[in-house]
Amino acid sequence: MLACYLTTFCSSALPVSLPNFPDATNTIKIKMVLSEHTDPETIVDNLARMNIRKKSHIHSLAYASRFATEDIPKYTLPESSSEARVAYQMIHDMLEFDGSPAKNLASFLSTWMEPEAEKLMLENLAKNLADQDEYPATMRIQDRCVSILSHLWKIPSGQKAIGTATVGSSEAVQLGGLAMKWRWRDARKAAGKDVSKPNIIYASNAQVALEKFARYFDVEARVVNVSEKSRFCLDVEKAINVVDENTIGIYVIMGSTYTGHYENVEAMSKALDDLEKRTGLNIPIHVDAASGGFVAPFASPNLKWAFDLPRVVSINTSGHKFGLCYAGIGWVVWRSSEYLPQGLVFQLHYLGGNEATYTLNFSRPAASMIAQYYNLVRLGRKGYTDIITNCLTNARLLSCALEKTEIFEVVSDIHRPRGQFYNSQGKAICSPATDYTKNSSFNDGLSVVAFTFSRRFKEEHPDVEQQFVVNLLRARGWIVPSYPLPPDCEKIDILRVVVRESMTEELVELLVSDILWAVNGILEEGEHFLSKHTQPSSHNRAEAFTSDKKPDGKHVYSRECSQLQVVDCASAMAAQPISGFAVDPDRRGFGRPQISASEGRLRPSLREYLKDPYGKYLIQRSKMLQTLIYLIGVITLLKTAYSFGSWVKDTFFVDKESLLKYQIDSKSAYAVITGPTGGIGQAFCDELASKGFNLILVGRNQTKLDKLKDSITNRYPAIRLQTMISDAKDTTPENFSRVAEAVAAAGTVSILVNNVGAMNELYGTLEETSSEELESIIRINCIYTTLLTKSILPILKKSRSSRSLILNVSSASSYGPGPLMAAYASSKWFISGLSEAIRLELRGSNVDVTCVCPGFVKSDMCQLPDAADPVVVAQQTLGKVHLKNFSPYWQHAATFGLLAQLPGWLKDRLLLTVVSQAGKVHNASVLEHRKDN
Ligand SMILES: Cc1ncc(COP(=O)(O)O)c(C=O)c1O
Repeated sequence: MLACYLTTFCSSALPVSLPNFPDATNTIKIKMVLSEHTDPETIVDNLARMNIRKKSHIHSLAYASRFATEDIPKYTLPESSSEARVAYQMIHDMLEFDGSPAKNLASFLSTWMEPEAEKLMLENLAKNLADQDEYPATMRIQDRCVSILSHLWKIPSGQKAIGTATVGSSEAVQLGGLAMKWRWRDARKAAGKDVSKPNIIYASNAQVALEKFARYFDVEARVVNVSEKSRFCLDVEKAINVVDENTIGIYVIMGSTYTGHYENVEAMSKALDDLEKRTGLNIPIHVDAASGGFVAPFASPNLKWAFDLPRVVSINTSGHKFGLCYAGIGWVVWRSSEYLPQGLVFQLHYLGGNEATYTLNFSRPAASMIAQYYNLVRLGRKGYTDIITNCLTNARLLSCALEKTEIFEVVSDIHRPRGQFYNSQGKAICSPATDYTKNSSFNDGLSVVAFTFSRRFKEEHPDVEQQFVVNLLRARGWIVPSYPLPPDCEKIDILRVVVRESMTEELVELLVSDILWAVNGILEEGEHFLSKHTQPSSHNRAEAFTSDKKPDGKHVYSRECSQLQVVDCASAMAAQPISGFAVDPDRRGFGRPQISASEGRLRPSLREYLKDPYGKYLIQRSKMLQTLIYLIGVITLLKTAYSFGSWVKDTFFVDKESLLKYQIDSKSAYAVITGPTGGIGQAFCDELASKGFNLILVGRNQTKLDKLKDSITNRYPAIRLQTMISDAKDTTPENFSRVAEAVAAAGTVSILVNNVGAMNELYGTLEETSSEELESIIRINCIYTTLLTKSILPILKKSRSSRSLILNVSSASSYGPGPLMAAYASSKWFISGLSEAIRLELRGSNVDVTCVCPGFVKSDMCQLPDAADPVVVAQQTLGKVHLKNFSPYWQHAATFGLLAQLPGWLKDRLLLTVVSQAGKVHNASVLEHRKDN
């Protein structure tokens, strides 16, 4: 109802009066649409005009109205006083809208101090650092701090540094610059030279305080653009190129506000030494160590950047950054009083004594300076080293975690092994196994993580902007600024996180989790996700929190900070929790880390994950899975291709020379063939004879044997041929010894073809087949073949040919079950098994073993349409004896090959159908034959 009212109210043209400032009586018309710029105060004012609510420029005294009796104006001084608790409550409530400093990842400023430090600050809140005579103890503390810092910054022994506390580095930088300007001017004047065109050199990554110096103090800024090669910092070569006689000095930055990189003070110093040798120009260096002044001495104690380089004349630092103090303290130190021109020092007498002052601010709170001394005393070198190392460790963890997502690449380098740096064309380097706490293993720098969408991510998702991530993170309370790197690297837009003492590993985990939540959400839901979690007018709302109105009714903002600095409005936004939002444990997608269902956190700890990159991130897991599936696919494909290739080769390739090795010379070896008088047996005899083998035909019917002998002798008169009677049903030892003796007497025997075999006369089940027939089949097929092989084997081993061969004739029925011919089929399984076994047993001997498995072969008894021609089968078989086990007829090989690929149930059905059909045809033809006879 109210919303409806407001919408109508605001979207119509309304006369809106400005707040009740003395001169603000004019009325203006504003056409407003609620989704655009909406000024809450104006709305409330209008409501007030309609007597719905009091005017907005008056504080509505929420809790405080219990005690207050009168309105308190916002923009003008109240005429009367207020109760202390009223004023307190009112201001306290207002400040509740500020953000959570711990989640402000944009700021370098310290947001936590120990209670003892706070106590000291409270006790000394009233002290003015300007009042040296009144507070001599405070002054001594300042001197001690300057002395401690100068030693920390390696002042050469015997040299006495001079310095002062400032409000921050901004003031300290001005003082450092001023001192250089005055020294340059004094020297130029003394030499009678022009002093009208001083210039100062710094890189384009400089903080605004440096720009201010140049502008405020009328010094030409020679800004050296940064490049990827110079690691987004001062390029020493380029800097040297712009030095001239009017250069008052060079600002070198220890660490860059953008990426945390340290500029190379030592290289700059050396280059200036060379220049001095060449030109006589003596250019000093002021090190802007706003952050690095409290980081480098502890994390990189061997780095040369401070007073150990004689060219460094002054250094500034911010005590409220990595000096770990609350806002309001900075330092500037000169290597000796010689570098602070006396013209900058004012002697004052009006506070009671004789005081020297050379700061820009006169009165300053002493409390933060005292807190600085507390930290120095309390922490000592060890304490600072531990804290700074911890910040760097967490920054490295964050960097590596971000890189591991592959959504981002990290532009800062502190997580990279020493000497390896970001390369926008190359692969991001992160070494998960390294001990992240070991500063010496990594590049020097601030605990700052500057990162950007990876090239791959940008290619895959060109529509996703980094700003989306920033906005979504804000919805979660995080302030992560996004901005382009300075010229000439503006094309790289970075997100930046300053890892301060308050940024625990836990927070790093949460941050990574939330970053992935944001990216994942955008990828899955697009803009809808963005609008669901952020508010379209967020920026305006944010401004509303921080804006103040001058009496002329215009908004004014304190925006002197550069875009890199904390924008408080953002923190104000951050303070607005998005109601009803919770981490969704089931969110899936690009680069999502493992999130435990209960907490929405990264589990196990980031640190462990990074040590174990094959650990728990889903992205990693899914990648592994993908690789595995890919590998399995490739292996299966290769295997299939190989099997198919082998099948084609085995099926279609016939080696015409394959029998040569079983001859002694061209034609004198014998081949023994059992069951030679019909079907494939006869075809084998023909084929072997054609290849010049002498034959021993072993059968039970002399007439048939003689007939066969005549037929072969007629066609191949050159070969010798013997016949031998042996009934395969006779498995007595005498039968085998007789055959063996005869074979041995024949001469050199190198081939045994175990062709003899028996099959059911009629297809039928086991029950339908007589026991005698079953036994006879098994006896002939299994026992006879086995024992004959055993008795001939010694002869084959002694053969004079280079090799001997046992060729066992099995059957295609050995490839699968053989219903309706159980004894036959399983006896052929036996033959295949026997062949395999003795093949292995005879490995290393001169005897080869092969097993051929023909399907239906044409004969008097088998006239099936797809039955193979026995001659073809024999030719193919004898051309493939180099194989272990094969089907000699390609149509059968294809059929059985396909059958083998089918699922078992289908194979069974097909087999049964095919064999039943074949059985019927076979049985009919046998019965017909019987009738005819
Ligand atoms: C390199 C550098 N110099 C100077 C400053 C200004 O320091 P302060 O905020 O202490 O005035 C900053 C602040 O971020 C900085 O990063």
